[in-house]
Amino acid sequence: MVRKITRFALCFSAGILAITLCVGGLNAEDKKDDKVPSVEDIMKKGHAGKNSLINKIKASTKAEKWEDSQKSSGELKAFGEALGKNKVPMGDAASWTKLSEKYMKITAEVSAGADKKDAKAVDTALGLLGKSCKECHDAHKE
Ligand code: HEC
Repeated sequence: MVRKITRFALCFSAGILAITLCVGGLNAEDKKDDKVPSVEDIMKKGHAGKNSLINKIKASTKAEKWEDSQKSSGELKAFGEALGKNKVPMGDAASWTKLSEKYMKITAEVSAGADKKDAKAVDTALGLLGKSCKECHDAHKE
């Protein structure tokens, strides 16, 4: 009887392990297939209008709702990492690399500030971000 139970337990854990490995594999597969969000997507979801990430970050940081602030700024940071993976939409490729790297750096600073629950750091980084729009639009937006 005891042996039977042990065997069952062994099979059962092996089964769970197999499922875990399988699901893990699927997730890895998903990630690989993830499309890089387009510049337009990043701009709209990141910056345009009341429901944009920067607005959400501002509001939740001000209200010290750190979980919300961290979630939104995490999404913004991911956008920051994705922007430069897009081909230059218009203008000079070297300038696009430089400005999208700057965007990546600033969005990472926003996220780091939220992770540290440091409202001042978030505000400073958002201020830098607000000053960076025009430079890039002048060079790379129609
Ligand atoms: C590193 C470059 C870069 C930075 C920084 C940047 N943008 Fe953009 N943005 C672009 C480009 C390129 C487009 C044109 C995208 C297209 O339509 O293909 C664009 C388009 C937009 C659009 C129009 C989206 C649409 O098609 O409806 C908005 C709104 C926008 N940006 C807002 C902002 C704001 C606000 C900031 C600053 C907080 C900002 N952007 C910072 C590169 C940038």
